[in-house]
Amino acid sequence: MQSFFKLTRPATESLAAEYGTPLLVLSLEQVKDNYRFLTERLPGVKVHYAVKANPERRLVAALAAAGSYFDAASDGEMLDLAAMGVAPDRIIYANPIKTAGGLAAASRTGVRKFTFDSENEIGRIARAIPGGTVLLRIRVDNTQALVDLNKKFGAPPEDALRLLRLAREQGLDAGGLCFHVGSQSTSAKAYTEAIKVCRRIADAAASDGFALRILDIGGGFPIPTPQENVDVAAMLAEIRGALAARFPAAEVWCEPGRFICGTAVNLITRVIGSQTRNNQQWYFLDEGLYGTFSGVVFDHWDFALETFKGGRQIAATFAGPSCDSFDVMFRDKLTAPLVVDDLILVPNCGAYTSASATTFNGFAKAAVVVWEELTALRAAAV
Ligand SMILES: Cc1ncc(COP(=O)(O)O)c(C=O)c1O
Repeated sequence: MQSFFKLTRPATESLAAEYGTPLLVLSLEQVKDNYRFLTERLPGVKVHYAVKANPERRLVAALAAAGSYFDAASDGEMLDLAAMGVAPDRIIYANPIKTAGGLAAASRTGVRKFTFDSENEIGRIARAIPGGTVLLRIRVDNTQALVDLNKKFGAPPEDALRLLRLAREQGLDAGGLCFHVGSQSTSAKAYTEAIKVCRRIADAAASDGFALRILDIGGGFPIPTPQENVDVAAMLAEIRGALAARFPAAEVWCEPGRFICGTAVNLITRVIGSQTRNNQQWYFLDEGLYGTFSGVVFDHWDFALETFKGGRQIAATFAGPSCDSFDVMFRDKLTAPLVVDDLILVPNCGAYTSASATTFNGFAKAAVVVWEELTALRAAAV
């Protein structure tokens, strides 16, 4: 089982005392471990970190230094990557529907690789970046993913040849195929099935004169939390086998987001209110649904809460600090009884959390500190 970053109780208490709460603690070592885990088990595959999962600059810089490529979804992400010195040939603009600002940013920064899944997009890319390389995103079915992306994106396989031909006619470099099996996918089957579908399309395309040289297998690799109990190494071995059997000569890319950053961040939050309403225990925290816990809504994620207290468990409702009644993260969550000022540690808090946090009601986003930079504190905590 893979390691994941989890603060001890003394470290949690020292950090809260020194920096206040809510606080996000990022382990760059864990980020690099996760990157290494993927590159070692998918040798030769170009890992493009999906910046949307967590765009924190120190995290992105660590990955850039480790040799990562990047998946950008927007002009903002491309411009940030360029400002950090990431070379444009290490970036794919992997949003099947691009904005005018996004295409202008690609042109300005020199990004020349794109995904698409519809006819309308072809002319837009060809006009903005003549001769650009495009990967056709294929729709794949996977009802088991936590977040199903294939209702919104992906061309039906039967449309693939027509779309590739249109891209070629417009002077684009139809470089290959891509897919995304859905986020937090816990079995290899969706990948191996999608690889099979792509092989059929690539064979049909070959007889039409295409030499599709790139296969991008997307993201979706799961955050391996203890609750999930998923063997990611076994999953990757199966995917690797399918790639070797069906695309032995292709250049293979992937676009992991959550797998790289999910286990690398801990949130420290504090109980700021306690109430009994209709015989239900309510706890109010200084971080809520409009902040780091936005992942409950947008990522359908159920966060584990570490209270450092054993013994009796009660079912409680946990709410955020805003004045909005929607700001409730968990209902009937089992917890040790808590009192105001108690600290709660939330591990595995790095993906689709701070990335979608807002400052609604005037609450600042949680500050981020890098664990490896706090050497004195680390020494005291072991
Ligand atoms: C095109 C694309 N690539 C990669 C990702 C990253 O997915 P994950 O975080 O599941 O690895 C996403 C997530 O939405 C995506 O839309």
